[in-house]
Amino acid sequence: MLKKKNISADSAAPERTLPAPLQLEASLTDAFMKRRTSYDFSDEPISDEHLASILWAADGLTGKGKKDDQRTTPTTLNWKEIDIYVVKANGVWLWNPVRSVLSFVHDKDRRKDLCLLQPLVRQAPVHLVYVYDEKKTQGFMTDLAKSIVRYTKSERIATLSDEVMRRAPLLDAGAKVMAVHLACAALGINCMARQTFESAKVRKALLLKDSQTPLCVQTLGYKPRGLLDLAF
Ligand SMILES: Cc1cc2nc3c(=O)[nH]c(=O)nc-3n(C[C@H](O)[C@H](O)[C@H](O)COP(=O)(O)O)c2cc1C
Repeated sequence: MLKKKNISADSAAPERTLPAPLQLEASLTDAFMKRRTSYDFSDEPISDEHLASILWAADGLTGKGKKDDQRTTPTTLNWKEIDIYVVKANGVWLWNPVRSVLSFVHDKDRRKDLCLLQPLVRQAPVHLVYVYDEKKTQGFMTDLAKSIVRYTKSERIATLSDEVMRRAPLLDAGAKVMAVHLACAALGINCMARQTFESAKVRKALLLKDSQTPLCVQTLGYKPRGLLDLAF
């Protein structure tokens, strides 16, 4: 379902509502045992139910009432600075975790711009791109922390604060990568995290702003069908 909403300047793009995420029934032990990096992907599109469940695991709401913006995955200082772009044959979309919708970015198939060598990875139906947005680390809590650092006049604390800023986006994206690995394991979907992509190409493919940096691509797809599956 494609509908147009005007909630804010950022969400004025057409959007696609996804179904509610499925209950992930596998035990945590089963999901860990089944989790594996795969290099084989069928080109069959991933169902909306599966995509919704995977995106919910990566960055979905879990809170109720006053805590209604609590998420499935943690971020440093609760910055929520990692955006998830969904790259499919029908275009590029941006996951909106608060409203569980995909916001439309453009309708070009840019999957090949995210892949270098592996041919089966190229035919995978979905790539999630974890994108750090530096702008999202700015705000009251960060300003307060910076004021405290200045107040202490301590070089050691200033260095520590710089290190936190440097490590945060990578660690916060990593938490999402693992959540997606486990959700895929629970759903029987093949999955592979990748750092092998050309940053400049990805930036262009996703129409990123200067404040945004792609950190990791995670490729998803069903297992390719074997000859026996096709015969029956
Ligand atoms: C953040 C991250 C980036 C990765 N980048 C690549 C990559 O660029 N190319 C690749 O072939 N595998 C990549 N991998 C997959 C690892 O090589 C894989 O996890 C490792 O071989 C262990 O296999 P397993 O995931 O099945 O335990 C990456 C994994 C992670 C977590």
